[in-house]
Order: sequence, then C-alpha cells, then structure tokens
Amino acid sequence: MVMIMKTIVVGSINLDLVARVPKLPAPGETLTGSTFEMLAGGKGANQALAARRAGADVTMVGAVGTDANGDVALSNLRTAGVDLSNIAAVRETPTGVAMILVDDRSGENEIVVIPGANAHAGEPLRGVEFEHARVLLLQMEVPTAVNKRALALAKSADLTTVLNVAPFSNAALDLAQVADVTIANETEFDALAKLMDLEGSTRHERAMAFAVRTGKTIVVTLGPDGAFAATMEGLVEASAPAITAVDTVGAGDTFCGYFAIQLASKSSLQTALEVACTAAALACKSMGAQAAIPNRDDVERFGG
Ligand code: RIB
Repeated sequence: MVMIMKTIVVGSINLDLVARVPKLPAPGETLTGSTFEMLAGGKGANQALAARRAGADVTMVGAVGTDANGDVALSNLRTAGVDLSNIAAVRETPTGVAMILVDDRSGENEIVVIPGANAHAGEPLRGVEFEHARVLLLQMEVPTAVNKRALALAKSADLTTVLNVAPFSNAALDLAQVADVTIANETEFDALAKLMDLEGSTRHERAMAFAVRTGKTIVVTLGPDGAFAATMEGLVEASAPAITAVDTVGAGDTFCGYFAIQLASKSSLQTALEVACTAAALACKSMGAQAAIPNRDDVERFGG
C-alpha cells in the first residue's frame, strides 16, 4: 500500500457528453447511437481522481465556468475529497466540454474538446503551496504557458514533475525536456520522436535516445500490450492484464494518476509501471472516464 503524499495536479476540468455508437462514424456519416450521458471528465480532473483513488492527498488546480456544468464537472473530485480550493470560477467563459463517441464493439473512442474556462487554469497558481507537495502532474489540455509556469514553480520547490503529452501538440517538445518524466501513448511518442528527430529503428531505441539526450525518463503506454520506460539506466517493461474493454475513455488518465503516485512513494519503476498498467486495464472494464477509475484496493486485488 502506498503512503499518503501530497500531489498537485494542474489541468483541465470538463463536462463529458458521451454517446455510445454502433461504430465510429466516417466523415459525413450520420449514425443512431444507443445511450447519452453527461459526466465529469477532463484529463486533469481524471488524473487527479486517479491519484486520489491511488491513495494520495491531491490538490487540483484549474478553472471552470460559473455555469451549472462546472458543478457537475467537479462533483466526483469533491466527493472523493480532492482539495478544490485552487479552482478558479470564471464568469466570462463556459466550463470546458468534451464530445465523446464510444464504439459499442471495441470500446474505442473519438473525442473533441472545447476548452472554454480551461484557458484560465493558470489563474490560481500563485496561491498553490508547492513546497508542501512531492509530485506535480500535468497534461496538455491547458495553455502551454500554464504548464511552463507550473513546471518552474514545482522545480523551485524540488517536486518530481510528470507530464502527460496528451492531447499532443508541438508544445510537447519544450515541456518534455523539462519534466522529470514524460508519459506518452504510442501515437504521441511517435510524434514527439519525429519532432526531436530521435534516432533508432524501433520505439525502444528512440525512447532510449530520448533518455540519453534529455537525461529524463520517458514512459510509453501500449494499450493492451502494457507500457515501457526508458531512462539513462536502460529500459523497463510491464505487461497489462488481459481484459475485455467496454470503454477506454480515461484509461490513459488512470495510468498517469497511478504511475505518478507510485513514483512519489518511491516504488521502483518496474512496480510503478505494473501498478499503473493494472489500474488502466481495470478502467477499461466499465463506462465513463471517472466512474471507471479503480480504487487502490481493487488494483491490489487484481494483482497490481
Ligand atoms: O482522457 C479522457 C478525457 O479527455 C475526457 O474525460 C475528456 O474530457 C477529454 O479531456
């Protein structure tokens, strides 16, 4: 069991508008879906909840609108006991919204995000007590300037910094060279490797090239095939337990939240990858980004 440690998550808070469809539509195609739900989401909020369910004391930093969606978007974080005293409520912009289609057969998804109030996520940063925390967890659904400022504040307070380069943009190039650990899925890693012109004929080689060039750690998630990490010391790999995926939305966020907490509790990289892979697999077994995030006990029962 991990110790309680303070974690700061700076990132997006969205209301997810989720429709289940018989298949993901082609351009110009109209489909009839089976269900529609409005659920709390956002990569930042999902990762904060995952870190909380992994056993950490979590402070969420971000922004919502003063509309009704803001309350819904924060509801699960509030119930779980995440510290919400550093959330800005902005009048002029609505709460961020994500439109999500989930394929009934595969659980795969397509997502479009309208950031709205997430543009203001940096406003509460000046009030955050970084010196009381051990880890900072970031994603890329808030402005790059917010992530840069958060990284600088965390570095000066000697925190371990973890960056999830999702959704991917070229801003990852600068951020990934500052964060102690970068987490990317295969597509995101390939884009980062191209931007950095990393050498190697396999992902493993290119990830090692990243580690050698930056002196930092890169974690590449491989969906059902698990994950691997490259550090200056070499490669570490973990497999994922076999499951039947119902909905993969939020699985990556679950991985990031669990991985960051394992790292903060001084687990080995091997253990951190294994626990995070198990938690992410469990998150695919039921619907919804946040509802599906497992508790630490569930992950332990499943062998993580
Ligand atoms: O990673 C899943 C999340 O991406 C969803 O909750 C949605 O809000 C988008 O931000």
